[in-house]
Parts: sequence; structure tokens; C-alpha cells
Amino acid sequence: MFMDLWKNRSALVEKNLLIELKKNPALEEILAQAMEYSLMSGGKRLRPILLMAAADAVNNTGEKFLTVASAIEMIHTYSLIHDDLPAMDNDDYRRGKLTNHKVFGEATAILAGDALLTLAFEVMTRQENISPEILLKVVQEISAAAGASGMVGGQSIDLESENKKIDMATLKKMHMGKTGALFRAAIRSGAILAGANSMQLDALTIYAEKFGLAFQITDDILDVIGDEKNLGKPVGSDAKNNKSTYVTLTSIDTAKNLAQAAVNEAIDALKDFGAEADFLREIVKYLIGRNK
Ligand code: IPE
Ligand code: IPE
Ligand code: MG
Ligand code: MG
Ligand code: MG
Repeated sequence: MFMDLWKNRSALVEKNLLIELKKNPALEEILAQAMEYSLMSGGKRLRPILLMAAADAVNNTGEKFLTVASAIEMIHTYSLIHDDLPAMDNDDYRRGKLTNHKVFGEATAILAGDALLTLAFEVMTRQENISPEILLKVVQEISAAAGASGMVGGQSIDLESENKKIDMATLKKMHMGKTGALFRAAIRSGAILAGANSMQLDALTIYAEKFGLAFQITDDILDVIGDEKNLGKPVGSDAKNNKSTYVTLTSIDTAKNLAQAAVNEAIDALKDFGAEADFLREIVKYLIGRNK
């Protein structure tokens, strides 16, 4: 069952995150606590799960790449800590707990994010059972996706788009960056690590792009109609900050249809894969109906 696999793999990721975190301890105790607080506070662990699922789709080697998978979760967690800061979305809750800066203060939250981002690249280099050439490719893939041409770039468009009406092309670019890039890198990295051929890599890349789109449209919808208890983060954050989202540019109903269309396209992209890609098919369907 796909839910069981998701749970089991999340547990593996969590165990490994803690191990990696302790290998090279922070010089300062408050910083160590702030890093652990956000990293170990739950979350869906989607990016590592998707990396492993992509490797499984190629040749059933998902768990071999737990190290790189864990590293991507560190990058994601850093992005959430910074996203919640007063200078960005100014939110008080994340993963059902007070945000990092609410507990540790802004300066430590910034440093905890910096440290997790940096640690991620140290961790990646510890991946075993892979040639240095392939690992180097994956490090390039992930660093490009995390930076100005990917996630950070998308966050910048997001901030520049507050208090104004942007067009659909800009919205798409923003989504592709702030959310899409890390999902894309996670899935492509899983495929590359597993030794995917170019047809498999292309198909999984399309899947990833459609996945990311469906995911962020749903995140925008949940920001309006979600339930804070389930979500573990505030509802109405986008409206508070006058953000441009799929909901503000279209409507809840149109946004839902667009998310469904992206799910269909994601599943279509996997047509040449057999049952080994079922997890990827199931999870994208599940996520547009999610409540957290
Ligand atoms: C939240 O990501 C931020 C976005 C990219 C929309 P997730 O919904 O994957 O957050 P966690 O990791 O489960 O908390
Ligand atoms: C944030 O998007 C994406 C990143 C953290 C890179 P949002 O601002 O919509 O995410 P949430 O809703 O706070 O999780
Ligand atoms: Mg944001
Ligand atoms: Mg936010
Ligand atoms: Mg959001």
C-alpha cells in the first residue's frame, strides 16, 4: 500500500536526518536546538519520498539514496524557516508548532536556515554506492534548483508580486521556482542516481513539473479553504500579505480544475512505466485531495 510505504520511508528519513544532524554538531547550543526544532518537527517529507520513488520507478533502488534524499529535506526545511520570517510571510505556525523565529528569535532562525542549507551539501557528498561523476551531476542539479534560478528566484518573484496584479505567465514562473524547482530536482536526482536513460529522465521530469504545479495550486487553495489544525500553518496567510496566487488570479473552482488537469498530465507522463511507478501515480492523485 502506498500509504504504508510513505510512512515507512518517512520514518527512515527522520531517523537519518537526526543521525546526519549529530555527525558534525553546531558550535553553539541554541543554534543546534533551532536546527533540530524545525528539521524534526514533522512535515510530509515529500521531497525525499519522491526522490526515492523516482529511483524505484527506474530500478527499485530508492532506499539506496537515503542520504541525498535527506539532504533535500534539509534544504526544504531551511526554505520554510526563512519563508516564515517577519521579512517574508511573517507566519507564527509551521508543522503544527510555533515557527522557528517565534521560539528562537529572528537572528537565530536566519542562522538555523543558513546552517541547514549548508549542511545539506555536506550530507550529499556522503552518499555511498554511487560514482563521483553521477553524484556531481546530482549536486549540480540540486544546487541550481535551490538557488536564484530556482527556489530562491521563485521566492523573490513571490515577494515582488505582493500588492499587485501579476499575469499568468509570471505566476507560473513564480510557482515553477518557489515550489516546482525542488520537487523537480528531487525527482530528477532520484532518476539520475538510479541510472535512468534519457527517455525515463524526460518522462520523470514532465511528471515532476506537473506534480509541482498541482501541489502549489493546492497549497494556494488550502490557504483559503483549509483548516489550520490539519494544515499546521495559518490559513489566510496569502490574503494577509496580498499575495498573487492561483486563487486570486482565477477562482477556487478554476484552480481546482487546473490542479486536476496537472495531475492527469503527471500520470500521463508515466505511461511507459509499469507498476514500479504506481507510487508516483498514487501520491500525485492523493495530494490534490489532501487537507495538510
Ligand atoms: C510547504 O511545503 C511549502 C510549499 C512549497 C508550498 P510542504 O507542504 O511540503 O511542507 P511540509 O514539509 O509538509 O511541512
Ligand atoms: C513557500 O510558498 C515556498 C517555499 C518555502 C520555498 P508558501 O509561502 O506558499 O508556503 P507556505 O504556504 O508558507 O507553506
Ligand atoms: Mg511564501
Ligand atoms: Mg509562506
Ligand atoms: Mg502557501
